[in-house]
Amino acid sequence: MSTIAPTLPGGTWTLGDLTVTRFGYGAMQLAGPGVLGPPADRDGALAVLREAVDLGITHIDTAGAYGPRVTNELIREALHPYPDTLHVVTKAGAYRDEQGGWPVERRPDQLRRQIDGDLETLGLDTLDLVHLRLGDASGRKEGSLAEAFETMAALQQEGLVRHLGLTNVTARQVAEARAIAPVVSVQNMYNLAHREDDELIDRLAADGIAYVPWFPLGGFSPLQSEALSAVAARLGTTTIVVALAWLLRRSPNVLLIPGTSSVAHLRENVAGAGLELGAEDLAELDRIGR
Ligand SMILES: NC(=O)c1ccc[n+]([C@@H]2O[C@H](COP(=O)([O-])OP(=O)(O)OC[C@H]3O[C@@H](n4cnc5c(N)ncnc54)[C@H](OP(=O)(O)O)[C@@H]3O)[C@@H](O)[C@H]2O)c1
Repeated sequence: MSTIAPTLPGGTWTLGDLTVTRFGYGAMQLAGPGVLGPPADRDGALAVLREAVDLGITHIDTAGAYGPRVTNELIREALHPYPDTLHVVTKAGAYRDEQGGWPVERRPDQLRRQIDGDLETLGLDTLDLVHLRLGDASGRKEGSLAEAFETMAALQQEGLVRHLGLTNVTARQVAEARAIAPVVSVQNMYNLAHREDDELIDRLAADGIAYVPWFPLGGFSPLQSEALSAVAARLGTTTIVVALAWLLRRSPNVLLIPGTSSVAHLRENVAGAGLELGAEDLAELDRIGR
């Protein structure tokens, strides 16, 4: 069994009984434009996934809806049989329609079909961690998750899923889910410019639950801010590296899953994210999203 590289920025975090590097990799944008179909550069996508593992990353985020199935299939082709230390993390609760939309699919039979699909495409008997996706394509929405999360808990009891998480959720929904079954991870949109979850992050940290910001670099619209550019220039680095270093520093329960389709960018991000931010830098960055 291989050991986790001790040198990745941020060290490690424990999801239930699984240790992952806080610096992970988000595979969504490896699929084609609009997260549909195959990538333009298939060999490049496979190379990025292999590089992630070679760099010591042990947390890869994906979903059956990406492509659909495309990123799962790329992960399997690049990395199966998986090293013992690698944890491939997925989501269920939305799928794709022919127009490229993300329709909600949270009925028990739909969730079961998505879990079966992920097991098959990833070539696994058990999924390490599955996030139930709440809300819809327009964002989070209050409302009970009981039926859907009870289904996830049943799939866990059957041994198809090891740990449960939530994505696109409100604090109230996190509390409702935790009364049904343990939650090890919450994945919501958050970055330097989108700080709605500040309070939730701190509460989850106190309870030992991971917080995984999606769109850590702004997603399809890269983060842009004069203050961010000024800090990066002062430190002689890129805005990307500063944004990642700030997230790692934000709270120990924050796990990174930045996406990239470039081996060079992946290396730059891993090499840079350990950057030290001083008090003046932090104060300036803190004002961006407030
Ligand atoms: N739970 C959910 O509902 C949900 C929703 C959205 C996303 N996610 C997850 O979050 C992950 C991250 O989101 P994301 O990939 O969409 O957005 P992101 O990580 O915020 O940003 C990715 C973008 O940053 C660019 N980038 C990365 N490193 C760079 C560098 N060193 N220099 C220049 N550009 C760089 C990438 O371009 P290059 O390819 O050119 O490097 C890509 O366009 C996804 O992979 C997915 O797993 C989850």
